[in-house]
Amino acid sequence: MSTKLLQGKKGIIFGALDEKSIAWKTALKCYEAGAEIVLTNAPVAIRMGEINKLSEMCGNAPVIGADVTHLDELKHLFLESMKHFGGKIDFILHSVGMSMNMRKGHHYTGISYTWNHKTLDISSLSLHKVLHTAWNLNAISDWGSVVALTYIAAQRVFPDYNEMADAKALLESITRNFGYHYGVRNKVRINTVSQSPTRTTAGSGVKGFDGFISFAEEMSPLGNASADDCANYCVTLFSDLTRYVTMQNLFHDGGFSFTGVTQGVIDKIEKGMQ
Ligand SMILES: NC(=O)c1ccc[n+]([C@@H]2O[C@H](COP(=O)([O-])OP(=O)(O)OC[C@H]3O[C@@H](n4cnc5c(N)ncnc54)[C@H](O)[C@@H]3O)[C@@H](O)[C@H]2O)c1
Repeated sequence: MSTKLLQGKKGIIFGALDEKSIAWKTALKCYEAGAEIVLTNAPVAIRMGEINKLSEMCGNAPVIGADVTHLDELKHLFLESMKHFGGKIDFILHSVGMSMNMRKGHHYTGISYTWNHKTLDISSLSLHKVLHTAWNLNAISDWGSVVALTYIAAQRVFPDYNEMADAKALLESITRNFGYHYGVRNKVRINTVSQSPTRTTAGSGVKGFDGFISFAEEMSPLGNASADDCANYCVTLFSDLTRYVTMQNLFHDGGFSFTGVTQGVIDKIEKGMQ
């Protein structure tokens, strides 16, 4: 990117596990666009993943562990980040998700509610916890921007997306409701980006992912959006060029969400019937 859209901005990036992660690509694009960043992930993911490599690629960005379900760890993360930046935070990427029932192979109709609570805590309530922590510390600059990643299973049924469909619906609701309050108090904007299926560790956990991703490719006039393109879109949402966009669920999916059917899909079905 030649323009430095995020020059002088400071942000926290949640969820970079490895180089496939959407958060990994977004961290690189933000750094390229002139931002200073702090990287964070669950302590266990920091030990297992490759985040230190990413830190080097982002000008030795600090890596501060925080489990998103623990308020005390989030408070520590925000306080340390503000100390590092010498001031408030301009943008946050929430790129966190985990389905316990999917991991354990449980069908939607037979989920364990204990795991379901955990899924909702990690994948949805965590956004509320992040925002609540920032709110109490007054940690986000006026006109700051928060983006969380979601999927269209919040609106339409994708049978194997399991409990994550409900988790994403809650995530999008928290985005609207906290977006209202934070907008009124500090002009902070909060949006979700609804991304195409993408080959990452979390994405590949969805049963039948290969079929899933090929179907979306066939059903999108532009084809599936890549993780790199998603990262570029997040950069625009963190920039001052999108200051009045808030409380929205923004589809970044090559047109999938508004396509009823494509000629390619019709041709394939007709061929199969012959
Ligand atoms: N891959 C896709 O097809 C796709 C499509 C749409 C939306 N998304 C969303 O994008 C986001 C990022 O996922 P990804 O596809 O890059 O996969 P990923 O596996 O690389 O990222 C998920 C991240 O969540 C982190 N995480 C899990 N539990 C945590 C906890 N308790 N505390 C802190 N962090 C925790 C993981 O360590 C990991 O870094 C998720 O919200 C996902 O649902 C993914």
